[in-house]
Amino acid sequence: MRHKKPPFIAGNWKMHMTIPETRSLLSALVKAGPDLPEAQLVVIPPFTALSEAAKLLLDTLIQLGAQNLFWEEKGAYTGEISGPMLSDTGCRYVVIGHSERRQYFDETDGSVNKKIFAALKSGLIPIVCIGETLEEREAKQTIPKVESQLRQGLSGLSAAQFSEIILAYEPIWAIGTGRTATPAQAEEVQAFIRAKLAEKHGNEAASCAIIIYGGSVKPANSYSLFKEKNIDGFLVGGASLEAESFIQITKEAIRAYKEEQ
Ligand code: PGA
Repeated sequence: MRHKKPPFIAGNWKMHMTIPETRSLLSALVKAGPDLPEAQLVVIPPFTALSEAAKLLLDTLIQLGAQNLFWEEKGAYTGEISGPMLSDTGCRYVVIGHSERRQYFDETDGSVNKKIFAALKSGLIPIVCIGETLEEREAKQTIPKVESQLRQGLSGLSAAQFSEIILAYEPIWAIGTGRTATPAQAEEVQAFIRAKLAEKHGNEAASCAIIIYGGSVKPANSYSLFKEKNIDGFLVGGASLEAESFIQITKEAIRAYKEEQ
């Protein structure tokens, strides 16, 4: 039987938060941090707030992530940010292939793959997002879609590289819509992802992998989602913009985690 790991909870701020807003949100999270020692917390501000966030998080257990990166290390790529720049700013994580980037900025499984290698090379832990649209779900294409995103997005990764990444299953129809996948719907896909990883990299690696869920995670559904065997945490969008809801989501996941111990 697989032992659940402590909850991994990342707040994806998307295109929100000025520097003063970042200060106020992080001061509340930093204050709450010592009461949430069982959880691994990550905040993912916009690029403009990263260096302020890094200062505020110094000497805390809350870690920093970025929302995207480019695969080249430097050069004439106006508007892009590289892995070494993110490491330099104090980032430990980087989100790759978020559905909003796939939808509005032409991110593909091919670019996701290049970005994973670039992130690993810079010592960053990729949080790789996959998930189906509503049409795909209704056409019973969820599993084939996720399978193809895994196959192409993770292509060429060695077992050691694979152990450095986090996967986020985010059904697109649940993102920002208030329509969360039921725990059973999320678990079905998360279990499939783990089984696929086991096929490729063996049971032990698959069992150690961190696979999180994203899509309208709220304090009210955090406990029941985290109770599922293959949900190791969350990528939280809207509810991560307020300290109170982000902390409450974390507390509810910790409550579910402790019951399993
Ligand atoms: P949401 O966003 O929690 O607002 O649905 C999740 C995400 O996009 O990562």
